[in-house]
Amino acid sequence: MRPAASRAAPWLWLAAAARVASPFSTRAMYAELDRSLERYAAVESADAAFAYLKDLIERPEHSYHNTLFVLDGVVYCDRRFLATDKNNKHVAMVGSLAALGVDPPNVVYRFIYGAEGYNKGDALARHPVLVIAKYDGYGDAGVLAPNPYFLDLRAWDEERRRILAKAHARPYGGRDGRVFWRGEIASHDSDVETRADHGTAAERAAFFCAEEGGNYARLQAASLTLAAPAKVDVRCVSRHSCRPRDAARHPCAAYPYDGDMARAANRPKDLVDRGGFVDLPEYTRYQKVLNLPGKTTGSYSRNLNHLWALGAVVLLWEANYVEWYYPLLAHGETHLAVNKSSLLAALDAIDALPDANRTALRVRAKEIDDRVVSGKGIAAYFGALFDRLRARFSLGAVLDDPCARARLFRAANCSALDLVAVAPAAESFFKSWPGGPGHMRRLDAARVPAAPTDCNAIYKRARDACAAAGRGDP
Ligand SMILES: *[C@@H]1O[C@H](CO)[C@@H](O)[C@H](O)[C@H]1NC(C)=O
Ligand SMILES: *[C@@H]1O[C@H](CO)[C@@H](O)[C@H](O)[C@H]1NC(C)=O
Ligand SMILES: *[C@@H]1O[C@H](CO)[C@@H](O)[C@H](O)[C@H]1NC(C)=O
Repeated sequence: MRPAASRAAPWLWLAAAARVASPFSTRAMYAELDRSLERYAAVESADAAFAYLKDLIERPEHSYHNTLFVLDGVVYCDRRFLATDKNNKHVAMVGSLAALGVDPPNVVYRFIYGAEGYNKGDALARHPVLVIAKYDGYGDAGVLAPNPYFLDLRAWDEERRRILAKAHARPYGGRDGRVFWRGEIASHDSDVETRADHGTAAERAAFFCAEEGGNYARLQAASLTLAAPAKVDVRCVSRHSCRPRDAARHPCAAYPYDGDMARAANRPKDLVDRGGFVDLPEYTRYQKVLNLPGKTTGSYSRNLNHLWALGAVVLLWEANYVEWYYPLLAHGETHLAVNKSSLLAALDAIDALPDANRTALRVRAKEIDDRVVSGKGIAAYFGALFDRLRARFSLGAVLDDPCARARLFRAANCSALDLVAVAPAAESFFKSWPGGPGHMRRLDAARVPAAPTDCNAIYKRARDACAAAGRGDP
């Protein structure tokens, strides 16, 4: 008989057979979170917190309007913030925390959706920015938060359940032995030719060449599909999504093509999977899955979000960018780090491992899914992140006290803000997961329901709560 735990987490039985070196711990992830906050001066009194919050409300960074308030479980932000799809997804995620058992505390923070993180120096250095990736590693500014592609965490868990069911039904030995990836290779060729907003032709060429890292990595990996088809199945999902850079017209000294790559770039249609988009649970047909850097800037890719759940061996293409849980990752334990020259040998090495060692890799990957990237894991991280922001900047002293909150929203000049309120929804706003490009578009078009409001409305509610508590007029 299997241990009782197998019902709750069917993959745990694997662990018994595996040689997992040490118990799973999230300590390193939270240590990095603490470290990243240390660069911002601590705020230690209620008066100082009042000034800190007033400044944050009055100086939303103009290009982003990126300040969010979470008050009594409702998310407030600028309407223009929600115009960006990824911001919508972030708000949906925060709005679903309570449904996952983590009531978000009162907090005010800034959020930037860009995959490159935040490298603009210290213009607003008092107020940390939540970023979803750090392009150059942990030294970059900002505080790491999960990327928006988990959407509403209830929808994410529903999708994970579909993946886990398939993973369980497909034992490793019966799977396709090749390493798998599907996606887009989207060169910046047309940007170089048309984006007048990026300066002269020479400036554009330099700018977009610097952004080619992700497409370069993708072409490197896909070129091995042509060179070693028995081991590598790395392809684009359509002809339209397979447009490698034309190296003759747009050379990039930093990203030279080798022979494999030049051949692949000349025959992009050979890189196309005619089956088209692959539904996420179907990634469980493979023993080994690969993550490649994002196509736009070569930073994180949303593809990785679901790879940990597959019961496969995970391979990560070497790069400097980091996400919030990367402090928990280790080459040879949770995944294998690969590049163009090491990929084929790594695949052979995986096949040559004793069963127990290979199983250990899969178990460690599955732990990342179960403890960190699951709905519960993400909700726990947001809870801890918000608690730390509150502690570092004494936010509770103002936001949790209705009288102090009323004083703040009466004093703050909100005239630059076009505020809306997003109340937590009883059900996930994102109903179906991408089963194909059509679904993907519908999902991307989804918008959280936002009601117009303003600082005065927040002030009045807090004032009434202050009076109801018998503390008079704030
Ligand atoms: C590729 O990975 C191998 C093994 O980790 C390493 O020795 C090599 O330096 C890497 N190559 C490049 C170009 O980074
Ligand atoms: C398999 O795992 C054991 C225990 O961690 C380790 O000592 C051994 O070196 C591993 N073997 C290989 C081939 O990696
Ligand atoms: C409020 O801020 C706006 C700019 O956002 C400014 O034009 C206006 O003068 C400010 N009002 C007061 C009373 O300070």
